Amino acid sequence: GVTRHYKFDIRLKNVTRLCQTKTIVTVNGKFPGPRVVAREGDRVVVKVVNHVSNNVSFHWHGIRQIQSGWADGPAYITQCPIQTSQSYVYNFTITGQRGTLWWHAHISWMRATLYGPLIIYPQHNTSYPFAKPHKEVPIIFGEWWNANTEAVINQSLVTGAGPNVSDSYTINGLPGPLYNCSAKDTFKLKVKPGKTYMLRMINAALNDDLFFSIANHSMTVVEADAVYVKPFETDTILITPGQTTNVLLKTHPNPQQTTFFMAARPYFTGQGTFDNSTIAGILMYDNVSASISSSSNTLIKNLPIPTLPPINSTSFVANFTNKFRSLANARFPANVPQKVDKHFFFTVGLGSNPCPKNQTCQGPNNSSKFSASVNNVSMILPTTALLQSYFKKSNGVYTTDFPSVPLVPFNYTGTPPNNTHVSNGTKVVVLPFNTSVELVMQGTSILGAESHPLHLHGYNFYVVGQGFGNFDPKKDPANYNLVDPVERNTIGVPSGGWVAIRFLADNPGVWFMHCHFEVHLSWGLRMAWLVLDGELPNQKLPPPPADLPKC
Ligand code: C2O
Repeated sequence: GVTRHYKFDIRLKNVTRLCQTKTIVTVNGKFPGPRVVAREGDRVVVKVVNHVSNNVSFHWHGIRQIQSGWADGPAYITQCPIQTSQSYVYNFTITGQRGTLWWHAHISWMRATLYGPLIIYPQHNTSYPFAKPHKEVPIIFGEWWNANTEAVINQSLVTGAGPNVSDSYTINGLPGPLYNCSAKDTFKLKVKPGKTYMLRMINAALNDDLFFSIANHSMTVVEADAVYVKPFETDTILITPGQTTNVLLKTHPNPQQTTFFMAARPYFTGQGTFDNSTIAGILMYDNVSASISSSSNTLIKNLPIPTLPPINSTSFVANFTNKFRSLANARFPANVPQKVDKHFFFTVGLGSNPCPKNQTCQGPNNSSKFSASVNNVSMILPTTALLQSYFKKSNGVYTTDFPSVPLVPFNYTGTPPNNTHVSNGTKVVVLPFNTSVELVMQGTSILGAESHPLHLHGYNFYVVGQGFGNFDPKKDPANYNLVDPVERNTIGVPSGGWVAIRFLADNPGVWFMHCHFEVHLSWGLRMAWLVLDGELPNQKLPPPPADLPKC
């Protein structure tokens, strides 16, 4: 591989959307941020220089960071933030991965404007396991607030109420013609008839799973979270925040019209307020006869919106999620751990507000504020980074008593819920090097049956099982798929159900795991694994780089 150098200058920029101008924090004045492109085996070196008053830190979402945990980026987990006029160089090698990933800021809600694609091509002379597409196009979904997003989350943390919902979704930063004043801010994908396009889709929205569809076109899913999957055809995809999905789009050889809407809208099963608007982009055929060309704005407005599943289509989502399978062939084997050293059962969900009598409800803020937890523990971020504290063997920053089962057992799917117990702390699970882990995550249905996209840093995991209702440790493991389960880094814990994952803890360091809904992350739905060094030199976390920021 080669070394690819990037420079991220963090600067303010005025951006107008939905008829309003606001000042946002950007990378190099771009919104969305620049593409980072590399090949499998390359080293990527990104120098970040912070010219703004906000603290920043960057995460390379889905990169395994083998022995480079110092470059992973979540603030107060692997590093202290990069403060005003400071800089930090992220330096990592892409080992055994190729596909679509992304990068984003990993502190507070800064990722609302600091995000971009991270595209990894296969090594030279290595092909895709499908015919080479005519063209490849990143499609990155985002969420836009007219207000300052730091003010939105800070207000929620102070008042204890849910944050204001976004004003629009965006495709590559553009809201599209269904929103006020946004016809000119529409993503247009120009295509030729009879060709195959690869859409590299990324959900960078903060708080919503999204359905996506293109009118009169179907798609073939070929990759998820930078791992190839057995191809399958679908009219609609579901993508959670944090996930990436590559699809092949075959254009019609003789299209009967020139323009088609593509659209995305949320999947949401909980209660409360959410952004239920639709974002649209346009698929536009080039080189088709002028007699059917029809691109005036009024005509575009009258085009049919693709049919998307109803907002709470849990059954569509379960079906769709079940279709993902690893290739599991000689070239791309599925190394599913067949034996398990340690079993964990984690509940994931929201705590309670106000706190019921006889229960403890201590979120990251205080007892009267909303909280979210894993195994009834709502994580408090330390004021220094966990990885540094571990490396320097300093005491008092975290404890190693993260519970392997919930503190309060109950019927997780019952309504009304009877377990809103939340305690807080900065607790980690310690795993000896090469521990084979099975983790069952159970949604607790405390506030409606909300789904939670759980993301693990530093690893891919295999999704060996999922189901509705309470996980049954006697019956459910018999149905696990240990042959060709999908391998990914972010999975939705089904609304009112559970998911079982397996991974081999072969990467030393401190690895964050959290809900990728930014609001749940802020409320404490987060924890960390501390994976110890192995015996061999190539099984140890190296010392930190000299420019690692200080708190
Ligand atoms: Cu994409 Cu910890 O995040």
